[in-house]
Amino acid sequence: MVPCTCSEAGVATAVKDQTQTRPSEQTLVEIDKVPLIGETPQSLLQNWLTPNPLFYVRNHFDTPEIEMSSWRLSVDGFVSEPGQLNFYDVKRLPKYTSTITLECAGNNRSDLEPPTPGNQFQAGAVSTAVWAGAALKDILEEAGIEPGARQVLFEGADSGTPVPGGPEMSYLRSLPMEVAMHPDTLVAYEMNQEELPIEHGYPLRLVVPGWYGMASVKWLSGIKVIDYEFEGFFQTDRYVIENDDGVWEPIKEMSTKSLISSPAGGEVLANKPTCVAGMAWSGNAQIKNVEFSSDGGQTWEQATLTGPSERYAWQQWHMTWTPPASGHYTLACRATDRLGNVQPIKTRWNAGGYVVNGVRPVCVTVAA
Ligand code: MTE
Repeated sequence: MVPCTCSEAGVATAVKDQTQTRPSEQTLVEIDKVPLIGETPQSLLQNWLTPNPLFYVRNHFDTPEIEMSSWRLSVDGFVSEPGQLNFYDVKRLPKYTSTITLECAGNNRSDLEPPTPGNQFQAGAVSTAVWAGAALKDILEEAGIEPGARQVLFEGADSGTPVPGGPEMSYLRSLPMEVAMHPDTLVAYEMNQEELPIEHGYPLRLVVPGWYGMASVKWLSGIKVIDYEFEGFFQTDRYVIENDDGVWEPIKEMSTKSLISSPAGGEVLANKPTCVAGMAWSGNAQIKNVEFSSDGGQTWEQATLTGPSERYAWQQWHMTWTPPASGHYTLACRATDRLGNVQPIKTRWNAGGYVVNGVRPVCVTVAA
C-alpha cells in the first residue's frame, strides 16, 4: 500500500506537495542563492525537454569566473601526450548529440521520514536537455592512454570549503575507465542547441548519461588519467550509500523511478474521465512499462507510454482515469525498466538522503 499523504483523508491538501503554492512556475524553485541551487517547477515536469533557464541547478560552490582568452583544459596523467586544449581543440572533434536526463542524487530528499540533512529537494531536481559536444573517448584517445590506467579524474574550475572550517577544495570526481571510454560519455558545449549556460558548466562539462548528476562535472578544467581508485570528498565522503551488507558504495546509475506530473497533489477534479500524466526514467535501461493505481497501490493497471523513447532520456506516459465516484483518491505510479528493475514502493531510507525513488503518491479529491 502507498500511504495517503494528506493531513486528513478526504481533505484535498497534500502536506508534502508544496510546489503548487510556489509563486511562479516560470523561474527555478530556489533552494539556495549562494551557491545557486534550484529545482525545476512541478508544472514543467511534464515537458520532455526542460528549457535551459528552468533546468535544475545544483552547485556546491560559487559559480567560477571563466576568462575564455586564458581558459584551457588540461589532459594529463597516464597519457603519452599530455597537454592543454583550448575550446576550439575540443570543438574540432566530431560532434555528438544526445537527449539525456540528469537527476540529482538528492532529488525528493524532502520526502524522507525521518528527514535527513541536505538540500530539501522536492521532485524537481531532475531535468532533460539535448546535449552536444565531443566524445570524452576522442579526447582521451588523442592524448594516448598508457598501460596501467584505471580511472579518469575530472576537476571543475569551482572551489570552496564544503564543510565549514574544513579544507578548501575543488569539485573532483572520477570515472572508471570503461565509463570514461564509453562512446556516449560527452564533454558537452551545447545544451538545447544553445551555448552551455554558465550555471550549467560553460564552457565545457562532462555529461555521463544514465548516472546521477554528481558525475557530470561542470566547468571542466582538468582531465587526469590515473592508475588508482580516486578517493575524495565528493566521491567517497558524499554520494555514497550503505548497501544491505553495511558496505558503503558510491552512487552511480539513476535508479528506476516515475512521477505523476498531472494532476498535482491536492487538486479537486471534476467527476469525469481525467488525464493522468507523468514521466519515468532509469539510468540502467529504457523504461519498459509504467503502472498506475488510483487506490493507493492495491491494484495497478498499465499506463500508455507516449512521446519519444530514447536510451538516456525520460519517458512520458499517460492514462485516462475514470473515477468511480466522488471522494478522496491516492493516485500512484511505478516504473519498470527493460532490465526488469522495478521502482520500489518504499525508498530505502539512508542518512545521506540519496536515491529517493519510492512510489510517490498524489492525493486528489473528485468533486461530487
Ligand atoms: N560540477 C562542478 N564542477 N561543481 C558542482 O557543484 N555539482 C554536481 C554536478 N557537477 C557540481 C558539478 C551535481 S551534485 C549535480 S546534481 C549536477 O552537476 C547538476 O548539474 P546542473 O546544475 O547542470 O543541473
